[in-house]
Amino acid sequence: MKKGKKLYEGKAKIIFASAEKNLIIQHFKDDATAFNNLKKSTIEGKGILNNRISEHILTSLKDIGIDNHLVKRLNMREQLVDFVDIFPIEFVIRNIAAGSLTKRLCIEEGTILKNPLIEYYYKNDELGDPLVASEHIYNFDWASSQELKLITNQCLRINDFLQGMFRGVQIKLVDFKVEFGKRKSDGKIILADEISPDTCRLWDANTERKLDKDRFRKDLGNIIEAYQEVARRLGILHEQNTNVRPIKFSKPTAVKIRKK
Ligand code: TMP
Ligand code: ASP
Repeated sequence: MKKGKKLYEGKAKIIFASAEKNLIIQHFKDDATAFNNLKKSTIEGKGILNNRISEHILTSLKDIGIDNHLVKRLNMREQLVDFVDIFPIEFVIRNIAAGSLTKRLCIEEGTILKNPLIEYYYKNDELGDPLVASEHIYNFDWASSQELKLITNQCLRINDFLQGMFRGVQIKLVDFKVEFGKRKSDGKIILADEISPDTCRLWDANTERKLDKDRFRKDLGNIIEAYQEVARRLGILHEQNTNVRPIKFSKPTAVKIRKK
């Protein structure tokens, strides 16, 4: 698929036009940012891993009837996806307290939540993506109450599926962020963006070792090794040792990507 002009560059991805007007190319960079761009770095190989992990997750979600923007992976760093009008909301689903929830309400990290907790954040870098209530969303026409109901329902289904999928490979899905948009071709509301260790908190089920972007946010080191571990457990990376335990965070190993 021929790559057209650059339409948008975000913190971790670049969007290019494609030969088809309703499809775009999503390119995964190695750049990492945290705390609204205050902390920045380049993590070699991260984009390749996120491309593969997100492809795997979005394909699995499509298989259970959760429509999303992924059309196909094009190469190591790029995916062909539906062009959508994105809702200006980040939907965060939490199963275990961590991150901003622990700070905002002084809840101990690791507290298991009685029910999955859905939070809405208004996507606005200048304001630092503030937490908003559903009433703000209706009032400012960011989404209608019907649209929000549909998306909330999808978030819970995605959470159920992902929790099971990760549990099966000895990983706890602590929380994650998703984005939705209206597909330009038919107006349908679908899941978009990416689901990867950049957008989830993933803890090893036995040791609670962090296998996600918190390793970058908190300067824990071994970021790529953690992302590789997630990919390996999901069956994406080819490696001789297929045991899920123990996790060895030793010297960085080359990323081997299995060709489909
Ligand atoms: P938080 O605890 O910092 O609010 O993050 C909740 C989840 O959302 C966590 O899995 C990380 C993810 N997330 C993003 O994907 N992008 C963001 O900009 C933020 C702030 C969080
Ligand atoms: N992605 C956000 C940023 O760039 C925040 C985060 O993931 O922690 O700053």
